Order: sequence, then C-alpha cells, then structure tokens
Amino acid sequence: MNELLDLATRAAASAADLLVQGWEQREVVATKSSQTDIVTQMDQGSEALLVSTILAERPDDAILGEEGGSRNGTTGVTWVIDPLDGTVNYLYGFPSWAVSVGVLIDDRPTVGVVHAPALGTVWRGIADDFAEANGRPIRCGRVTEVSAALVATGFGYDAQVRAVQGVQVAALLPQIRDIRRAGAAAVDMCWVAQGVVDAYFERGTHLWDRAGAMAICSGAGARVGGLLGDEPASNAMTVAANPALFETLCATLREVGVGSD
Ligand code: IPD
Repeated sequence: MNELLDLATRAAASAADLLVQGWEQREVVATKSSQTDIVTQMDQGSEALLVSTILAERPDDAILGEEGGSRNGTTGVTWVIDPLDGTVNYLYGFPSWAVSVGVLIDDRPTVGVVHAPALGTVWRGIADDFAEANGRPIRCGRVTEVSAALVATGFGYDAQVRAVQGVQVAALLPQIRDIRRAGAAAVDMCWVAQGVVDAYFERGTHLWDRAGAMAICSGAGARVGGLLGDEPASNAMTVAANPALFETLCATLREVGVGSD
C-alpha cells in the first residue's frame, strides 16, 4: 500500500508541476457536456504524464482517466485519475484546483493523493488507516447539528440541472450555517477530511472527481456515501461528512429535495 501511495504522490506532484509551469499557455481546446464544461491542453498533458508515470512502474494495472486515458489491467488495482479537477478555476486563476489520484483495490478507493499547488496543499491518505495534509495528520470535524454545519457543494454543467440545484440550495440555506462552492470536488472532499468544512454533497460527480478524496476522507474518519442509508457514493449523489452528522444531514438534504429533478 505504501508503494502505491508513494507512486501516487510522485505522479501527482509531476502533473501538478506541469500544470503550474504551463499555466500562462493554458488554452481551451474542447468542450464536453456543455459549452462551459471545458478541457484545456493542460488537462490532456497532465493526464498523459500521469498515465506514463504510473505505467512505467505498474504496467499491468488498470487506469480510468477523465480525459480518456483508460486501459484494462490484470492486477485488481485501478488508478482513477483526474488530471485537473477544477478546470474552470485553473482557467481563471481561482486557486481551488488539483490533480487527483485514487487507487482502487478490488473496486474500493483505498489510496488517495490530491495535490493542489495554488492552495499549497497535498492531501494523502489510505482508507481506514491515516490521512494527512502536507505531512500533518488530519481528522474530520466534530459538528453534529445540521444547523451549525458549514456545507460545501457543487453544481452541474447543465443549465436545467443548475436551475433545480439552485432551488434546492435556497431551501437548504436557512437550515445550515452556510454554503461554500469553491469549484473542485476533490478539494471540497479533502476539506471535509480536514474539518475545513463540515460536509459536502453533490449530484453528478464522476469517479475520477472523488476516488482519491474518498480514500483520504476514510483515513480521516469521515463518512462518504449516498443520500439513503448505507447507499454508496455514486455519480447520482455523493455526500461526505463526519459520521455523527452524516445521517441527519442526509435527512435534511432529502427533505429539501436534493438529488431529485
Ligand atoms: C468539476 C469540479 C466541480 C464539480 C463538477 C466537476 P472538472 O470537475 O470538481 O467542482 O462541481 O461536478 O465535474 O470538470 O473541473 O474536472
């Protein structure tokens, strides 16, 4: 496990360095689900570097990458990589963006590194074991009352989905301390692991947005799942919070219609 963490750390650091060095040259080269769901040449370069770094040492592992750099493997180990989570933030120079590397062992997010150069933070963790930020141990927060919770969230790229999410967040706001929308799901989840926010929820993330941060949340004692009971986190809904807050927060989110159309 430590070898996987070490490789994930080195791969994420090289990709983060590439993104920092190439920032002045960043250019939008494609759009995906909508006009505002963008890809820069730096997302693509970062993914190519991550894939080649990982395969040079682990040629038989599987890879799932946001920008299409995916392959099957034979070892039961899958590297789930987001070469640039928070691409819109990167484009604008808003500091919440990161390289996210998660390692699934038999489909479970087990090792994670989220490297956010503009925030000066590298989060690392192993599920059920430990989590750290810049080498210092972290734990999730202890708030148990929904009314006292600082909650991060994100919005989809589709305008109709955003309209619905706006109505739901408006209903949620009077019930919580406040909302934060910083623009990179992996960072939001690491902030839950570190107690910088109490909770996070979002509809429509992908496995590459959350795999690395899920291992880090687990290592920091935070619970990650879906909206209903023991449902796992999915593209439909991901909730992260400290275990004492998780159930009551999910009940509140369901009450205000989060997750529905
Ligand atoms: C996005 C960011 C954003 C979240 C979206 C993600 P990308 O990732 O994490 O905060 O709201 O769901 O798709 O597109 O910048 O890699």
